[in-house]
Amino acid sequence: MAARIIDGKSIAQDVRTEVRKAIDGMVGRGLRRPGLAVVMVGDNPASQVYVRNKRRACEDCGIVSVAHDLPQSTSEMELLAKVDELNADDAVDGILVQLPLPDHIRESSVVERIDPRKDVDGFHPYNVGRLAERNPLIRPCTPYGVVRMLDHIGVSVKGKHCVVVGASNIVGRPMSLELLLMGATTTVTHRFTRDLESHVRMAEVLIVAAGKPGLVPGEWVREGAVVVDIGINRREDGSLCGDVQFESAAQRAAWITPVPGGVGPMTVAMLMKNTLEASFRRQESRAD
Ligand code: GUN
Repeated sequence: MAARIIDGKSIAQDVRTEVRKAIDGMVGRGLRRPGLAVVMVGDNPASQVYVRNKRRACEDCGIVSVAHDLPQSTSEMELLAKVDELNADDAVDGILVQLPLPDHIRESSVVERIDPRKDVDGFHPYNVGRLAERNPLIRPCTPYGVVRMLDHIGVSVKGKHCVVVGASNIVGRPMSLELLLMGATTTVTHRFTRDLESHVRMAEVLIVAAGKPGLVPGEWVREGAVVVDIGINRREDGSLCGDVQFESAAQRAAWITPVPGGVGPMTVAMLMKNTLEASFRRQESRAD
């Protein structure tokens, strides 16, 4: 079988167009444009690229983005004070603190300080808890983007055996919660899993977010599976590759995401959607 490509770039563009139209509608009804504060500490080169993409997407969608670039030497207290200031700012609907943070700052204390209503990354324990309890409010962008991609290609995971490779807080864990919400039988594998291959071989839907280039050989992929590769790794020559060995996996899968142009653009698009919705909820609740 030669897999069909899941074109994340094009699906992300659809989402961004929807967001843009909804924002034009809001503004037409006298509401203000959504505002997103993008906070970055230090100068991690990969984070700089991601943050630039997020700011560009804001421009494209009509979201007002305000950059807060803080030096590497920023203390946890100073960053928490910045979050407090943004929580209190009425023009700010969404707060995004780019991760990873420098080692001297505890990520959990920063994420927990963000007002859950402004937590457009969906990383606050309140929002993760809402997803775990099957009543999601703001959903983590990357898993939410994968849900949208599966919907776009018309694949239902209900009753299917889905395998998530990787159990990170920002991707693997919330991904497994999204799959459970959709009625999938869900296996989560991680660094302590014995015999990863045997789990991967069973996956009707395989979602890989391990951050290890080429971790999954195509020979492990079940015939006819849907393969979603969330890994974005940089090779020595500067090119990007995923966690799945694409060419051989595409011989067996029914559907597969490319890297780049797969899940990456979806993460940014869903951030725009989350910011729009957070803004709408805040402005609506003020109207009555
Ligand atoms: N670092 C890697 N991915 C993300 C993301 O989706 N949001 C934030 N804030 N940081 C990240």
